[in-house]
Amino acid sequence: MNSNVRPETMERITTPAQAEAFIAEQVAEIRAQVGDKKVLLALSGGVDSSVVAALLIKAIGKQLICVHVNHGLMRKNESEQVVEVFKNQLDANLIYIDATDRFLDKLVGIAAPEAKRKVIGGEFIEVFAEEARKLEGVEFLAQGTIYPDILESEKGVKAHHNVGGLPADLAEKFELVEPVKLLFKDEVRVVGCALGLPAEMVYRQPFPGPGLGVRCLGAITRDRLAALREADAIVREEFDKAGLTGKVWQFFAIVPDFRSTGVKNGARVEDWPVIIRAVNSVDAMTATAPQLPWEVLTTITNRILAEVPGVCRVLYDMSPKPVATIEWE
Ligand code: XMP
Repeated sequence: MNSNVRPETMERITTPAQAEAFIAEQVAEIRAQVGDKKVLLALSGGVDSSVVAALLIKAIGKQLICVHVNHGLMRKNESEQVVEVFKNQLDANLIYIDATDRFLDKLVGIAAPEAKRKVIGGEFIEVFAEEARKLEGVEFLAQGTIYPDILESEKGVKAHHNVGGLPADLAEKFELVEPVKLLFKDEVRVVGCALGLPAEMVYRQPFPGPGLGVRCLGAITRDRLAALREADAIVREEFDKAGLTGKVWQFFAIVPDFRSTGVKNGARVEDWPVIIRAVNSVDAMTATAPQLPWEVLTTITNRILAEVPGVCRVLYDMSPKPVATIEWE
């Protein structure tokens, strides 16, 4: 599949049988392309890279080397799930790098949203490139490019984020393997299910590359980041229990970099607020805040106040996009 143009005759993949046919075709193509050589993949745990990893494991097994960089800004248990699924269940050749300290040290005192994104993106490339240079005999780089990435980069809307970034010595060294580049997101999910990936991975809600970094507002501190991770886990758990996962497009917590007054054990405290954000959207260009059941909001509020240290207030953000964006920064 070398063309970047989806043929008009290509059927939309919606059924397990169509997914199986696609998988068989891709397995054959991947084997033909890479032969007995090694392939490198940055595995974030997002839908696209996870499906590409599973597809390559099926095609070439241990010839695939997955690198998972934990930047310390993942949601609770997400890196653990990547290791569990790929290393323990699929027996993948997985290099796990806990780069938390590196990222958080670099981010100290950096408050501007775009500056934070730049540091996180730049550091990610650096960690990945360092690892790639250590490996010998790797000739291919696999990427979870999907068709909207290609369409957007052709329109010049955004740089093709998957291809950009790598230092020239590495970018030139590798031939790309992009088995899902002609698929739309919903098709990638059908293929992921057929490959046996867990539903929570395949139907994972959109999660920004900079992760919790843009939800721990302003200059990130470890204590606020820890509070955010716990609060966010409670939001997800309660959405799950209420059957809202899959019905609401994206939902998460935010911790701002200011405090408000509260009373704990009869004494005045200055603690952080937690903001809950939930949106429904089709393409992230516009979004609305759903009317959540009051009991769900109450349970989340009570649990966060009882379980998360340093928090004394919980708010629900009702703003639609536009005017507000989905993320707070
Ligand atoms: P906004 O906040 O612009 O977000 O309404 C639209 C969608 O994009 C996600 N988002 C990002 N994804 N890197 C990403 O990979 C980023 O820096 C980033 N910023 C926002 C956001 O979660 C939403 O789904």
